[in-house]
Amino acid sequence: MRKTVLITGAAGGIGSATMEVFKKEGWQVIGVDRKSSDQEMSDHFIEADVSREKQVSQLFQEVGSKIERLHALVNCVGVQTCKPVVEMEAEEWDETMAANLRSVFLMVKNAHDLLSPGGAIVNVGSVHSEATSSEIAAYAASKGGVVAFTRALSIEFAGDGIRVNAVLPGAVDTEMLRDGLQRDHAEGGSIQDKVRSLGNRHVIGRIGRPEEIGEVIVFLADDDRSSFVTGHALTADGGATARLSTE
Ligand code: NAI
Repeated sequence: MRKTVLITGAAGGIGSATMEVFKKEGWQVIGVDRKSSDQEMSDHFIEADVSREKQVSQLFQEVGSKIERLHALVNCVGVQTCKPVVEMEAEEWDETMAANLRSVFLMVKNAHDLLSPGGAIVNVGSVHSEATSSEIAAYAASKGGVVAFTRALSIEFAGDGIRVNAVLPGAVDTEMLRDGLQRDHAEGGSIQDKVRSLGNRHVIGRIGRPEEIGEVIVFLADDDRSSFVTGHALTADGGATARLSTE
């Protein structure tokens, strides 16, 4: 039987690469993003802001009219607000939390019945939930919430046969990463130089490619491969968090 996955953030770097990996594996793919996408990668593409309750419930009405069950849900939307805490407006804090954490709550709540039993949820967190930096506090806090929520969901949904895991990517070459280089945490004049110097700080000597995160997501989403894994946060960061920053 052909499996079906719904991926949010489908117009973004990691989301679109993940769709490709699922397609290659023969899955039916439903992509969702608030930005339109003309990619051919999804079988269905739905435009919605997944931090808005009404839009999420409309989205699931549409999904429910197309399919009877969902084998996996991948929550991949995210926004990164790069600002010192004292300069951050409350609205910016709220927007970050809404896009990165509220969206996960709304999506899992609405997807629950289509996923049960035997489905899987993969939430895309970040290594910023484990170790972080300056001028990225709201993002780090929201991703910490994603890990705690993943753990709680795995317990609450276990009785319905739904596994829930998170993937914690490190630096991955997407628009979000390149925009975030404005924080000046990487040396170099041009963006390309900054990307290279950031890569050199990784144990494996480079930053990640979006499809490398896609492979991890598919592993966690596929019950044939990861059926004994739930409540777990899997780090995929080229060894960035393995190295002691003091040595
Ligand atoms: P991206 O900026 O390329 O893609 C994010 C997508 O999410 C965009 O298409 C955007 O339109 C969509 N989106 C944002 N808020 C939305 C909302 N409320 N409703 C619907 N769509 C919304 O970013 P990227 O790099 O592909 O990030 C994907 C995920 O991976 C995010 O959760 C991000 O936090 C996470 N991540 C990315 C890392 C990186 O280095 N690129 C590192 C660690 C985590």
